[in-house]
Amino acid sequence: MTDPTSSTISLRVDEVTHELTVDNRRTLLDALREDLDRTGPKKGCDHGQCGACTVLLDGCLTLAVAAEGAEVTTVAGLDHPLQAAFVAHDGFQCGYCTSGQLCSAVAMLAEHAAGWPSAVSGDVSPDGPPATLDAAEVRERMSGNLCRCGAYPSIVRAVLEVTR
Ligand code: FES
Repeated sequence: MTDPTSSTISLRVDEVTHELTVDNRRTLLDALREDLDRTGPKKGCDHGQCGACTVLLDGCLTLAVAAEGAEVTTVAGLDHPLQAAFVAHDGFQCGYCTSGQLCSAVAMLAEHAAGWPSAVSGDVSPDGPPATLDAAEVRERMSGNLCRCGAYPSIVRAVLEVTR
């Protein structure tokens, strides 16, 4: 008899496919960290408030079973100039938030490039100009990622550098 409280799922993480059996209530973050040893995503608040757990998908409060068949990219699977820019601009201190900051920044840059406006974008009419990615835009678009060390000015500088 099968266990109705668990599921066997296939997760593709950083271009590697894994089959695993998880409790149906297991979060994607716990599955990544504890079952697959992908410790780049960090457990900060465990409530989806601080962004330390960010991976490229949706959010780590997503249940692992809901990510069945999805492509998950953690910081370990990133290959982006932002990583060097964070080092060059000292975009971290303790580093706890850094993997989430990097994943968010990569997604944010893609959203901006696709023309998605943010809350601080000016004219968002279809005929309006595309939002310029200035410091205010970066701060707003990265506002879901908290840094307890206060490395924000360096993070903004790093993000802006890769847009130039
Ligand atoms: Fe320490 Fe951001 S670098 S929390």
